[in-house]
Amino acid sequence: MKVDVLLGLQWGDEGKGKVVDVLTPGYDIITRFQGGPNAGHTLEFNNIKQVLHTIPSGIFRKNKMNVIGNGVVLDPSVFKKEIESLKKIGFDIKHNLLISKKAHLILPTHRLLDAASEKAKGDTKIGSTLKGIGPTYRDKIGREGLRVGDMLENFEEKYNQRKSQHLLTLEKYYNFDYSNLLENFEKEWFEGVEVMKQFRFIDSENYINKELKSGKSIIAEGAQGTMLDIDFGSYPYVTSSNTICAGACTGLGIAPRNIGEVFGIFKAYCTRVGSGPFPTELNDVTGQNLRDKGNEYGSTTGRPRRCGWLDLVALNYSIMINGVSSLIMMKVDVLDEFETIKICTGYKINGKITNEFPYELNEKVEPVYEELPGWKKDLTKITSEDEFPEELKSYIKFIEEKTGVPIKIVSVGPNRQQTIIR
Ligand code: GDP
Ligand code: IMO
Ligand code: MG
Repeated sequence: MKVDVLLGLQWGDEGKGKVVDVLTPGYDIITRFQGGPNAGHTLEFNNIKQVLHTIPSGIFRKNKMNVIGNGVVLDPSVFKKEIESLKKIGFDIKHNLLISKKAHLILPTHRLLDAASEKAKGDTKIGSTLKGIGPTYRDKIGREGLRVGDMLENFEEKYNQRKSQHLLTLEKYYNFDYSNLLENFEKEWFEGVEVMKQFRFIDSENYINKELKSGKSIIAEGAQGTMLDIDFGSYPYVTSSNTICAGACTGLGIAPRNIGEVFGIFKAYCTRVGSGPFPTELNDVTGQNLRDKGNEYGSTTGRPRRCGWLDLVALNYSIMINGVSSLIMMKVDVLDEFETIKICTGYKINGKITNEFPYELNEKVEPVYEELPGWKKDLTKITSEDEFPEELKSYIKFIEEKTGVPIKIVSVGPNRQQTIIR
């Protein structure tokens, strides 16, 4: 058996949560391998709408095990809220969730450091989710982080040591006034620690490899997207983890040869939250139409998402980096009313057209478009591929030809059921 991986190919929010939930019946174990509560994965089914931040999107299906891998960063206070909101809708997940002892903890002071760093950057801020992601991964790589397993011994001592170092940085380096925030953050955080302790902490790399050997099927759920990857995204306007397929190996402890299918998920157009370059961005009425129709507001922060046309240069780059074997196209219904639809097939840089992804996406990068006819039909109620209008078939064929990868799933609405598997 191999581990299948599902990853965002754009700037996040492609619809990963929805599709992982749809695919879960075909797997025994569902895992998260990187990122943390910066993620917001939305699921809709049976009149339930739930946004998950750190818990894998397999959690609503019966008899499945969900695992938070070592590559994830966890904030106990967010975790507690998530558990409570699941309880409210009738899901007690204590027996379906395992947490890696090696996952790093987001401390209250990491959140403060995130805020202080963004404030200090002014106009050049990353537009982070302010969840403490950057400072936590910085401590991890700097070999100064606290891990879930640390909760089991001398925890307060370890915590206080990290906290006092962080406070020194906040005061001396950032001159950041945290006086009104810290006490509350800490209270929620320690309550969260108690909730977390009710769950099973494991060496998840051993668990996953054993289960794999015994024939269990596993899917790894990515967070963020390839364009936000720390190495290959639009640096420095990225997140602080490897969001790509290789991240599943380091974030779970599985060997590269144990990776099976790589599902690459993308929207039929593009969105981005936060700062940073976005070649096909539309700052006009068309962009606003995409935002309105697609309800493009952040699942984690509520910020309006920047919208633009599909970018095949960026998509092909992501497909290359991840070794994508199947594509999943989301939110096709959002394009239902468009007369024509543009797709970026190249970048014009200094007068030259290229389809190679450049070192930097700066203001010199000008998208080159091809225009395809829209289908002008409501897709939200269709249930099979036979009902696809001809124009949608052409849109799909065009992308498959330009990427060389088959589109296996087409999503026509936020609900579990609005999913066409080809
Ligand atoms: P994720 O972070 O990749 O899991 O994606 P998000 O949940 O942040 O954002 C995707 C948004 O689009 C959510 O609000 C989903 O409910 C919604 N969504 C997912 N698929 C579709 C679709 O095919 N059509 C429409 N209209 N909405 C969708
Ligand atoms: P999901 O998993 C979209 C963006 C932030 C910011 C940058 C860095 O729901 O697709 P961070 O808080 O990680 O330091 O912020 O990355 N970002 C996301 N954008 N979807 C996400 O997750 C994101 N997680 C982080 O907006 O630009
Ligand atoms: Mg999201």
